[in-house]
Amino acid sequence: MVSLLENPLRVGLQQQGMPEPQIIVIFGASGDLTWRKLVPALYKLRKERRIPPETSIVGVARRDWSHEYFREQMRKGMEEAHGGVHPEELWQDFSQGLFYCSGDIDKPESYQKLKNLLTELDAKRGTRGNRMFYLSVAPNFFPEAIKQLGNANMLDDPYKHRLVIEKPFGRDLASAQSLNQVVQKVCKENQVYRIDHYLGKETVQNLLVFRFANAIFEPLWNRRFVDHVQITVAETVGVEDRAGYYESSGALRDMLQNHLMQLFCLTAMEAPNFMDADSIRTEKVKVLQATRLADVNNLSLSAIRGQYSAGWMKGKPVPGYREEPGVNPASTTPTYVAMKFLVDNWRWQGVPFYLRTGKRMPKKVSEISIHFREVPSRMFQSAATQQINPNILTMRIQPNEGISLRFDVKMPGGDFRTRAVDMDFSYGSFGIAATSDAYDRLFLDCMMGDQTLFTRGDEVEAAWQIVTPALSVWDAPGDPATVPQYEAGTWEPVEAELLINRDGRRWRRL
Ligand code: BG6
Repeated sequence: MVSLLENPLRVGLQQQGMPEPQIIVIFGASGDLTWRKLVPALYKLRKERRIPPETSIVGVARRDWSHEYFREQMRKGMEEAHGGVHPEELWQDFSQGLFYCSGDIDKPESYQKLKNLLTELDAKRGTRGNRMFYLSVAPNFFPEAIKQLGNANMLDDPYKHRLVIEKPFGRDLASAQSLNQVVQKVCKENQVYRIDHYLGKETVQNLLVFRFANAIFEPLWNRRFVDHVQITVAETVGVEDRAGYYESSGALRDMLQNHLMQLFCLTAMEAPNFMDADSIRTEKVKVLQATRLADVNNLSLSAIRGQYSAGWMKGKPVPGYREEPGVNPASTTPTYVAMKFLVDNWRWQGVPFYLRTGKRMPKKVSEISIHFREVPSRMFQSAATQQINPNILTMRIQPNEGISLRFDVKMPGGDFRTRAVDMDFSYGSFGIAATSDAYDRLFLDCMMGDQTLFTRGDEVEAAWQIVTPALSVWDAPGDPATVPQYEAGTWEPVEAELLINRDGRRWRRL
């Protein structure tokens, strides 16, 4: 019988089941992500009996920790981030599968030491040579870690060895291409899992079901009926303690090129022939290849950046981005970005897609809204009739996950007064949370060999390609005074308002 692990290509979204026992090796295990998200996600999977008890985790980092100390740190993390370990007995058992191996990312002897430990664990815990190498280190260490894993022959088996790469995958087109080349030298694409945690969100996965499992929307999903699309990911948080990373990243690299582009792809792509990884990812690449910034010669017509200045959040004063600890007082790093995309294909020709994301916005909200064309309103032009509102279909990614459709109804009474109402579906009505950190889902899929929710090499490159004209202007040394400002706790800078108002449209007020 061919196991799921041995047949990674055709395991679709719908596949459920238990993965084979394996060892998950986390590089950068002393960092936040490990105790905050990764180990808790694996514990959750174990608790829900979705991964076998033999599953083992090996943390790798420079610090000289023992297995026992690593277990204690993970337990503390569970307490801090998840209110403790429940049930205690299960944690006792789970934590016996946690191991630690100190090492330097650039030293071959560290990989030999790790290799020996993994062989030992295979014998002790029955993990059968199955391994997942999870790179949760600073992105500048990705190439070195991948090369060293290759030199140590730790990625040789295309069915048993997997490589998981955290975001960001490159910082522009050239660096993403060169990272892809490093990857391709040591393993096959079907071993590579590039993380974009938005793809692990229930509501994001639902986009595929909503679009392609319902007959009534697909016939309307095109330029004949859609006027434009808005994709918004607004956050209330500021840069927090991440200035070191954020200063060299900014909203375009941190959010738009990956998370928002994934939302864009799932909204705009054609129906795949099958729901398997390659069919879906091929459609995403096709739509990305047809997409461009609205006007690359005049950036103000297609890409706007912004930076939050001091303001108020929930009644408290907050500093501006340039006053945050660790941020250059003359920084030009954007904390907000809005872009207008055009898609040159039969479905979308002439329909603008407006994307925006920012920190320190008034509300945390992520949504996709499809704005349908206006009806010919002549017949309603009587004095009594109010304005006819175009239909809007909104997919709320988070919070208050759900879908709503706005349409006009006649108000009861003698005349033809109209009013927009919403027909609403809320995930809450299932009684099961649609929210999760997404990492549990991503781990499970990776362990099962399902790449659907991970980005393919050509897909990441195509996404970088689209934003390159903006990056090349914004990355050049520039006058800080040219970066539009918006007050913390307010929506976009005025320049971003203009981006859409110029087209006779408005951002949705959320
Ligand atoms: C991360 C970004 O990828 O996504 C963060 O690095 C951002 O800056 C976060 O805050 C948002 O994720 P979510 O799931 O809270 O929308």
